[in-house]
Amino acid sequence: MFVLDAIHKSYGQNHVLRGVSCTIGEGEIVGIAGPSGAGKSVLLKILGNVEQPDRGTIRQVNGRQIKGESLEGEGLASVGFLFQESALFDSLSVLENVAFPLIDAGKYHRSEAEESVEYEQGMQKAYDVLEAVGLGHAYKKHPGQLSGGMRRRVGIARALVCSPDLVLLDDPTGGLDPVAARVIMDLIAELHQRYKPSVVIVSHDLRRMLPSVERLLVLFDGSISADTSIDCLEDSISPRVRSFLSTRYDFSRAG
Ligand SMILES: Nc1ncnc2c1ncn2[C@@H]1O[C@H](COP(=O)(O)OP(=O)(O)O)[C@@H](O)[C@H]1O
Ligand SMILES: [Mg+2]
Repeated sequence: MFVLDAIHKSYGQNHVLRGVSCTIGEGEIVGIAGPSGAGKSVLLKILGNVEQPDRGTIRQVNGRQIKGESLEGEGLASVGFLFQESALFDSLSVLENVAFPLIDAGKYHRSEAEESVEYEQGMQKAYDVLEAVGLGHAYKKHPGQLSGGMRRRVGIARALVCSPDLVLLDDPTGGLDPVAARVIMDLIAELHQRYKPSVVIVSHDLRRMLPSVERLLVLFDGSISADTSIDCLEDSISPRVRSFLSTRYDFSRAG
């Protein structure tokens, strides 16, 4: 379980996160919603160790830790990240994009001849994950040759390639048409079943996200104003959270 305790983050005078505390269960799939600029992406980056909190801790209980006091002999938890807008490398092939975290993490060194066993294994692993997202056939292509939905699938494969304990997906359906967005949400649900990592999804598209997640966190004014399982969403939110959510989600048609 991942435990966030009183996370604070400011940029200059902008106190974005003001004591965020929550947990992400092992193998759980959690959604984060909140107004634009609320700090959802910042929170994800802190979870992903891309940004450092000013105060507060993130620990992985019963396992390796992400942050906090160092546990001797234990490495960092592995985290897979799909950044907002995918952020693929246009100069690399699809396969190289997916394999990048393996090589970057030094798990599979690129030898001079590119013929080491480790390199081959890394590329095989990347290919396997690419097949799992339905893009095995496109491994040689470059990101610029793919549709938006396919690029997003490459980003998801890259987030999974290290067999992470925690997968962070920032706006995985952003900018996609409704059909492509549906395909991506279904794929995320399928991959979650298959690999069973903890997953955190940030999305504006509540209508598509809510059926795929087990729990919803709502980030308001720098802290978590709602933390509820989807089953009792309607009963457990404040009027303010409800009024925010109802601009994006039709409660009368939920169920
Ligand atoms: N690297 C940064 N430098 C300065 N301000 C930042 C930085 N990253 C985010 N912010 C600010 O933090 C706030 C939250 O941003 P963000 O997490 O991207 O919001 P959202 O909830 O829409 O994802 C915004 O006011 C944004 O301008
Ligand atoms: Mg964002």
